[in-house]
Amino acid sequence: MRQFPSPIRTVARYSVALSELATGGDVQPIITVTGLNKTYASGFQALRRVDLSINRGEIFALLGPNGAGKTTLISIICGLVNASAGEVRVDGHDIVRDYRAARSAIGLVPQELTNNMFDTVWATLKLSRGLFGKPRDDAHLERVLRDLSLWDKRNDRIMSLSGGMKRRVLIAKALSHEPRVLFLDEPTAGVDVELRREMWDMVRRLREQGVTIILTTHYIEEAEEMADRIAVIRRGELILVEDKAELMRKLGTKQLSIQLPEPLAEMPGALKGLSLSLSSDRCTLVYTYDAAWEQSGISELLATLAQLGIEFKDLRSSQSSLEDIFVDLVAKPAEHGQRHGKAIHE
Ligand SMILES: Nc1ncnc2c1ncn2[C@@H]1O[C@H](COP(=O)(O)OP(=O)(O)OP(=O)(O)O)[C@@H](O)[C@H]1O
Ligand SMILES: [Mg+2]
Repeated sequence: MRQFPSPIRTVARYSVALSELATGGDVQPIITVTGLNKTYASGFQALRRVDLSINRGEIFALLGPNGAGKTTLISIICGLVNASAGEVRVDGHDIVRDYRAARSAIGLVPQELTNNMFDTVWATLKLSRGLFGKPRDDAHLERVLRDLSLWDKRNDRIMSLSGGMKRRVLIAKALSHEPRVLFLDEPTAGVDVELRREMWDMVRRLREQGVTIILTTHYIEEAEEMADRIAVIRRGELILVEDKAELMRKLGTKQLSIQLPEPLAEMPGALKGLSLSLSSDRCTLVYTYDAAWEQSGISELLATLAQLGIEFKDLRSSQSSLEDIFVDLVAKPAEHGQRHGKAIHE
């Protein structure tokens, strides 16, 4: 049984971030979310006691199934939806008391296309920058459009662009007022593979310029490729917040495939009790172990094989992907949910 990284650690991480903030430590969160609840007018509770701290300059991925609460969380941070309880600060500004300052630090690329289709690309960007009270800066807008390969389309009406281009216009619009934090809500949904790669490159370039990026995605590959930290949200609860590398190290399983020169009639008794299985053609022994174990047990296994006179012709190892980990996490909600609740109320 793999060890689930206790949410206690998640909460502990959060309190560390807060205490560092209080003592002027190195980690300075750009966004802090405390005790956030959201119940829609329908009575549906979309967020439950969400505590989260986003570090300056990181790429943070929010993963969760449809309806988990990702867009709700982003919409509250961006001031588009009111929270039922809790507090959000963006770059030190409370999103309710100091709305304008908080909002001007943020660029939002919404999940749905929201452009005015009759405007040109250029007019859309100019208007958006103006709405944030920023002085005219055509050179900045040109850089943004060139970066997104939209410069040639600047005088075209948005309705004449392809779906992928319209999505890029949304990104350009979100960047028009030079935000310090960029939210991307499903940025690459319905976007082809090449464009997805281009967007990933663009996100990395933005991060190099010091922009903090928060993205939601269904593409686990996207989180695996891009994120420094990953949060998993399910039914309005954050069930995990973790460094990506740490997550993969802690939750990943590894497999060692031992290829035999000839089929093995049956599993020798000395090997029973190990997490070992025999392939259906009986030519491969598969040993599964936890990536976090200090002792993998491989050398003992190979020694036992030698004692039994079992030879092998090849060894191959593989590691579980973030997709395996994610499916595992959302597939066992009750257990994790309980643990989370317990950790929070302790
Ligand atoms: N305006 C609203 N009124 C009532 N319920 C809402 C409203 N907006 C969202 N919800 C509900 O809140 C829950 C979370 O929705 P949200 O859009 O935040 O999910 P999501 O994680 O972004 O999902 P997806 O991956 O499909 O975009 C859903 O059950 C949704 O039906
Ligand atoms: Mg959504």
